[in-house]
Amino acid sequence: MTSIISKKLLGPVGFSNLPNQVHKKSLKKGFQFTLMVVGESGLGKSTLVNTLFNTTLYPSKENKEPTTEVPKTVEIQTISADIEENAVKLKLTVIDTPGFGDFVNNEESWRPIFENIEGRYDAYLEQENRVNRKRIVDTRVHACLYFIAPTVHSLKPLDIEFMKRLAHTVNLIPVIAKSDTLTDEEIKIFKNRILEDIAFYKIPIYQPPVHDNDDPETIQENKDIIAKIPFAIVGSDREVEFNGKKVRGRKYPWGVIDVDNEDHCDFVKLRQMLIRTHMEELKEYTNEVLYESFRTQKLAAGALEKTNDGQNPLTKFDEERLAHEQKMAKMQAEMKAVFQQKVAEKESKLKSSEDDLNDRHRIMKEELERKKAELEAKRLKLESGYATKPELILTFQSKLYSTSLFNVTL
Ligand code: GTP
Repeated sequence: MTSIISKKLLGPVGFSNLPNQVHKKSLKKGFQFTLMVVGESGLGKSTLVNTLFNTTLYPSKENKEPTTEVPKTVEIQTISADIEENAVKLKLTVIDTPGFGDFVNNEESWRPIFENIEGRYDAYLEQENRVNRKRIVDTRVHACLYFIAPTVHSLKPLDIEFMKRLAHTVNLIPVIAKSDTLTDEEIKIFKNRILEDIAFYKIPIYQPPVHDNDDPETIQENKDIIAKIPFAIVGSDREVEFNGKKVRGRKYPWGVIDVDNEDHCDFVKLRQMLIRTHMEELKEYTNEVLYESFRTQKLAAGALEKTNDGQNPLTKFDEERLAHEQKMAKMQAEMKAVFQQKVAEKESKLKSSEDDLNDRHRIMKEELERKKAELEAKRLKLESGYATKPELILTFQSKLYSTSLFNVTL
């Protein structure tokens, strides 16, 4: 086990400069961020992107005559721009999706957007799997602004469908579009209804994390942002006169909406979260949670995908295992048969040599018995013929002795 002890330095060594090293490196390298905007047609998606980054990524539609038709986004459009603020470079990619809701059947309108997000994860995964992994371009979508029409009712079934599908794949940030068309009271009611729907359908929207070990200022900042979700926003890339000053906003007979005024709308809070305080956090969450889950699913599915010969690898493996087991069983049976045959052969050999031995033993026994009988006959003959000559009897007895030894072994 490794024990960690905290030690005091006896003098400066220099690693307190590490953040500066990272800072310098980051400045040199620059930053990159990909934002997607999704929502019904004409909810002000392109206008908000221009407002967020204070640039005209999309041609302004503000000064169009009321009779002029505002051009619609009809296909997924990707715009990349290098922007710079105080020597910090940001490569910004915006994916503007065609506004949905115009078609008779909008059921599948989420599909191309979903496929675009997955396609970008795929492209990243493909780069990661290359032999040469230098200069990997982060193609992934780091945040998706979902525009909700300012209806004051609850979420539409189409919104629920979209949000449910997207929220598991991307950092989903819901916004109430064109909130200047609602009163403060209506915004409050609408926000509550949206949050109720989000909770009811368990849609995992993005929220800044609140960690207990963060400093109190950060905790409060994050809580203030969370309190504004879903952000009631107003977009404008046009300047209007307000209190004698030029501001980005929208002018009405009843007054002016200043998009950069926190009392007028939640645009500032949205921009703060998206750009000033949580851009890196959004990227980190994309990388560590959303992309990771996509990657795991993809690789697991890949393992199950059909191979070139049109067979599922798992089925193939099972078949091979079965064939191997059958082969082994056959070999075992053959070996057993051979063994039994050899044992039988050995047994029959042993039996025949035993019979042989028995025969020989019987023959020898018969022979000896015959010799014994002969000798017995001789003995009787001698005994009867030489009964009067003791020396002859002695010779005869010694002969008998050698014969009796032979008898004992029988
Ligand atoms: P599609 O590309 O067709 O999906 O439209 P979009 O969602 O990109 O909307 P776009 O930014 O083109 O804006 C459509 C119209 O709404 C334009 O005339 C904008 O001037 C206007 N608009 C944009 N934002 C707002 C807003 O916050 N409030 C009001 N009242 N109008 C807005």
